[in-house]
Amino acid sequence: MELKPFIMDHPLIQHKISLLRDKNTGSKEFRELVSEIAMLMCYEATRDLPLKEVEIETPVAVARTKVITGRKLAFVPILRAGLGMVDGVLKLVPAAKVGHIGLYRDPKTLEPVEYYCKLPSDIEEREVIVLDPMLATGGSAVDAIKLIKARGAVNIKFMCIIAAPEGLKALSTAHPDVQIYCASLDEHLNDHGYIVPGLGDAGDRIFGTK
Ligand code: PRP
Ligand code: URA
Repeated sequence: MELKPFIMDHPLIQHKISLLRDKNTGSKEFRELVSEIAMLMCYEATRDLPLKEVEIETPVAVARTKVITGRKLAFVPILRAGLGMVDGVLKLVPAAKVGHIGLYRDPKTLEPVEYYCKLPSDIEEREVIVLDPMLATGGSAVDAIKLIKARGAVNIKFMCIIAAPEGLKALSTAHPDVQIYCASLDEHLNDHGYIVPGLGDAGDRIFGTK
């Protein structure tokens, strides 16, 4: 069954995305915003983590309380722009492992080209959250998740900040089992494969390149 994309429209996230879209926002502020939005999104994307009951001695009495149990997490940013989201999610889940997948879009064909893949050796036992601020044609996310599945992972989520309808469709068709979280569903792609209105090139804006 195809999972419905989850659009996170919390007011704090929407406010920060407006600042992110502004062409006058410089790299320093852009990086901070990407990290903060990723942290807020991670809060929601981990809502279904299983809990178990434990007993903790407080200074006053024994409390029956809950801690996270079950599968451990791995975050996998798609290089480069996904790196901007890592700090934010690790603030909430500091014990998670981090894998990296290097992909760039060929500017002519818009097809993803793989140049790096290093994943935790126990990835198949982990719940994986793939990170990339932009889901445009969907090619990069589809390929990244193929690589992760090829290593045996079965429990995968995808978290992006801005998605185009074309990318959502491509990703949910190729990987209907993957829950997609995004913070804004934009209008469409332009002839160069950029999301409209979008925010431009996320990697260039995070790292100050052009
Ligand atoms: C951007 C973005 C995604 C990809 C999305 O990366 O960060 O990875 O494009 O486009 P798609 O959905 O059409 O595949 P880019 O290729 O610009 O590389 P970069 O992060 O190194 O700048
Ligand atoms: N990658 C980006 O960084 N921005 C877009 O609009 C599309 C792909």
